[in-house]
Amino acid sequence: MTSERPESPTVTIRPSTDEDVPAMLAIYRAYTSHGVGDLGGYVPTPFDIEDLKARRKNLKKHKLPHVVAVIDGMVAGYAYAVLFRKRPAYRFTVKHSIYVHPAHLGNGVGRALLPALVEACGQAGFRQMIGYIDSANEASRRLHEACGFRQVGYLPSVAYRFGAWCDSVMMQRSLGLGDSVGV
Ligand SMILES: CC(C)(COP(=O)(O)OP(=O)(O)OC[C@H]1O[C@@H](n2cnc3c(N)ncnc32)[C@H](O)[C@@H]1OP(=O)(O)O)[C@@H](O)C(=O)NCCC(=O)NCCS
Repeated sequence: MTSERPESPTVTIRPSTDEDVPAMLAIYRAYTSHGVGDLGGYVPTPFDIEDLKARRKNLKKHKLPHVVAVIDGMVAGYAYAVLFRKRPAYRFTVKHSIYVHPAHLGNGVGRALLPALVEACGQAGFRQMIGYIDSANEASRRLHEACGFRQVGYLPSVAYRFGAWCDSVMMQRSLGLGDSVGV
């Protein structure tokens, strides 16, 4: 799948491969390396290339989409879905994550990636898709709205970063036949 905006680079979306893992990890680390402030002695487990490869393999096994956005042959972003909850009743609902390389923000990469992930999740037979977004993350909220998500929940003070409580919004959209028929 390829998308073009005037004056923006051509973005191609495709399923991720193991070869994409170092580039995806670099993007992930760009957003997490600044930490969240004092964790009171808690040391987060480092996340490395092998962890990400194992996660990809596991998602593939469960037919959960994991896609990358490519610009000029370089990975400019990635997005994937996991099960919303592990209990069997929730098997038709996914939650997702999306990350765009800091050098490519505002270039339409998110607008190419998220619809492709939505499409892939619908094709895989999932019926509902959920994203949790920091309430201050205007770019992500707008992107999700533009891709058919609507706010279904507001979760006050669920994160603590740099000395402040932060709220999240929960945004959801249906996929395929949604809840119009049973399974
Ligand atoms: C959220 C994110 C994925 C958006 O990706 P992006 O490639 O920069 O977004 P796009 O250029 O495709 O723009 C998508 C929409 O977001 C909005 N947007 C983009 N940047 C914005 C900004 N800085 N402020 C406000 N809105 C913005 C625009 O309304 C745009 O809609 P349009 O297509 O009508 O113009 C990206 O900012 C990101 O990876 N952020 C860090 C990780 C993150 O927050 N992930 C989401 C967690 S839920």
